[in-house]
Amino acid sequence: MSAVENQSLNSEGKGQGNSILLPQASIAVFSKDQETLASARQLETDWRFARVVVGVEDGDVNSAIQSYQEFESPDLVIVQTETIDAAFTAKLEELAGHCTEGTSAIVIGPENDVNLYRKLIDMGISDYLVKPIMANVMAEICAKTLIEKIGVKGSRLIAFIGAKGGVGTSVLCQSAACGVAEFMGQKTFLLDACGGWSTMSVGLGFEPVTTLLEAAKEIEAENQDNFNRMIHKVTDKLSVLASGSDVMLDQSISADQLEMMIDVLMAKYPVVFVDLSHSPQALQNVVITRANQINLVSTQGLVSLRQSRSLVQEIKDLRGGEDDGIELIINMSGMVSGQDVPRKDIETAMDLNVSAVVPFDAKLFQGNENASRRITSDKDGETLVKSTLLPVVQKIVSGDFTVDNAADKAGSGSGLLGGLMRKLSSK
Ligand SMILES: Nc1ncnc2c1ncn2[C@@H]1O[C@H](COP(=O)(O)OP(=O)(O)OP(=O)(O)O)[C@@H](O)[C@H]1O
Ligand SMILES: [Mg+2]
Repeated sequence: MSAVENQSLNSEGKGQGNSILLPQASIAVFSKDQETLASARQLETDWRFARVVVGVEDGDVNSAIQSYQEFESPDLVIVQTETIDAAFTAKLEELAGHCTEGTSAIVIGPENDVNLYRKLIDMGISDYLVKPIMANVMAEICAKTLIEKIGVKGSRLIAFIGAKGGVGTSVLCQSAACGVAEFMGQKTFLLDACGGWSTMSVGLGFEPVTTLLEAAKEIEAENQDNFNRMIHKVTDKLSVLASGSDVMLDQSISADQLEMMIDVLMAKYPVVFVDLSHSPQALQNVVITRANQINLVSTQGLVSLRQSRSLVQEIKDLRGGEDDGIELIINMSGMVSGQDVPRKDIETAMDLNVSAVVPFDAKLFQGNENASRRITSDKDGETLVKSTLLPVVQKIVSGDFTVDNAADKAGSGSGLLGGLMRKLSSK
């Protein structure tokens, strides 16, 4: 990103996955500009930065050099200057000499200069920004730089949670993960966070040879080879943790252990799905704060819709009051003939758009489940996943898929959803 673009960052950052709770990290800002200092101080009030230590100093590149002669440098140093000349770039080199390897640096300068921008980037500076730096730009730049630094650049964490038990969260999460791997060609990982309650091995046809706790212990011991042995490849692009043999009534892993596992997975897989149905609240909580997208699954029933409304509010509260990234999926539509709540009414009651409607189809879902087959191995299943779930996931995952003739037929005339609805009413 060039300096020219820096004021448009806020809109650019939206939906790009920067809306996540950032990992533990440290930032130091050296500036004499009151506006920059105020923007840096505001990071403390941004929920994403809850675990980031932000040091703000009324100073310049010389103060930074002095600090890091004595103390260890943070993950990110931001330095503002009023003059950009050879003396300043020499000072930057001196600063680099005192910084710990891996420290990223951003320079804020007085004017837009493409040649200077290139020179600084060549020197290893992460970004060059032109003042004034508003609070939202400061937050987006810092979030983006830290996300890149911890090696999860471009990786997406996608959670599925149910408004209540049995609404089909697991089967939709598995279907979406299969769809992303098979039809969008993305290297994908699927983790079921409910331990011994997991039914994933049935749905995806594998032997549950391990437990979440055993996997977490290998991650803690940094024993990557042992952890890799616990991974089952469902298809060429889809891997899962072959867990599920956990004791059902025993305590699960801690939120910290789950987060360590997610960090390891996100460094290796561009797309990581976590099924949160039936998992302990502490694990749901940590994934919800970090996920780039949260798919909330509900049925048409009043109880489920009511629970969804409360859950949407709680999820928003956990994510700084924003509904950014929350997707509402209505499952088992048409299960009770004539009882479906109109989509518009659901949206009004929930103050959230419905992102997808999945029809009740016992033959497709239970049929495949009983045969231990993936939904996507079935032509109707493929059509359903492509026309309902993948458009939702595609909002944050890159990759294209084509909806084939079967899907076109299902949606003929009035779009895919219309087609599915017609399929429903003909039952
Ligand atoms: N659209 C659908 N049409 C028909 N059956 C469905 C549909 N969606 C899910 N099911 C079936 O409903 C059952 C429950 O699904 P699933 O296990 O995915 O629910 P869950 O919400 O994850 O449950 P839990 O709360 O136990 O984790 C399964 O047998 C599944 O095949
Ligand atoms: Mg489940």
